[in-house]
Amino acid sequence: MLVLGLESSCDETGVALYDSDGGLLAHAIHSQVDMHEAYGGVVPELASRDHIRRLVPLLRQVLVAAGRSLGDIDAVAYTAGPGLAGALLVGASFAAALALARGIPALPVHHLEGHLLSPLLSSTPPQFPFIALLVSGGHTQLMKVSSVGRYELLGESLDDAAGEAFDKTAKLLGLGYPGGPALAKLAESGKPGRFKLPRPMLHSQDLDFSFSGLKTAVLTAVRERPLTVSEKADLAFEFQEAVAEVLVTKALSAVKSSRMSTLVVAGGVGANRRLRSRLDEYAGRAGVKVHYPELELCTDNGAMIAFAGSQRLLAGAKTRSDGSFAVRPRWPLVEA
Ligand code: KG4
Ligand code: ZN
Repeated sequence: MLVLGLESSCDETGVALYDSDGGLLAHAIHSQVDMHEAYGGVVPELASRDHIRRLVPLLRQVLVAAGRSLGDIDAVAYTAGPGLAGALLVGASFAAALALARGIPALPVHHLEGHLLSPLLSSTPPQFPFIALLVSGGHTQLMKVSSVGRYELLGESLDDAAGEAFDKTAKLLGLGYPGGPALAKLAESGKPGRFKLPRPMLHSQDLDFSFSGLKTAVLTAVRERPLTVSEKADLAFEFQEAVAEVLVTKALSAVKSSRMSTLVVAGGVGANRRLRSRLDEYAGRAGVKVHYPELELCTDNGAMIAFAGSQRLLAGAKTRSDGSFAVRPRWPLVEA
């Protein structure tokens, strides 16, 4: 079964072709980062308009790369939420129109399910069941994953997501959008010892998180006096350490309390090198195996949507082929 995957929930247009027998045949991404940079963040209306411009050329590109034609596609999977309403509607209407025209099914996919299952696309995929640490721009969640579609929320951020905290802190330090990668880069030249930031909810005895206080602590440090470049790097270093320490501790405690031995990390913050090295170190000591998506599939992409869609279709998911569609900008994963 050849599934076309479309991702358009935020500032990346992603298109991919996944074959249930042959695996990922091709995928292509267009990032809108350059377009939104001037505004310091994503402008929803511009995002929607750009998705419209990009979808057809990206689809052509993956068809050529995979050596397939439109007629070979058996189903279209699209991100139906969560995300920006207008941006989601572009992918959803494109999928519905294509499905109607070709007489094939269209399937709405949950964006976080795409992230969550993306490590299964790697050369050494994890086995079910596992604990998933989902760290994207809008979500920080710990999930127990028993199989495709069976997800139990164990804990989540009560305020800012880890990615959001990275982005806001980066802004406070005068770094551009998107902040996460820029802050991580600055932190590479930082040193420990000069600043001490809190480790929010580290000992809260539950699996919830809170990152907004950390951002406020950075704000206080920045407001005290103008910081030199090397001081900013030290502050970025300490911020990254604090986030990584909390994420690693809670993720491993979720694995332990669920008596599991496998942890899957997914979502944009999962690309953070310091988080990965810390996790590998502590998980190794605890006998826990950690799986990550391929680095290029950590942030938003169409491959994870095509793959999640194919898994749902194989499990008999409900589809539409009458041209109708719906999006859910707010959509808890456990309801997917
Ligand atoms: O999963 P994702 O691409 O999009 C959402 O679904 O939100 O995650 C984007 C988030 C942003 O907050 C971005 O700053 C963060 O992931 N991010 C990083 C890194 N790369 C992306 N945060 C820290 N370190 C990175 N290397
Ligand atoms: Zn995402």
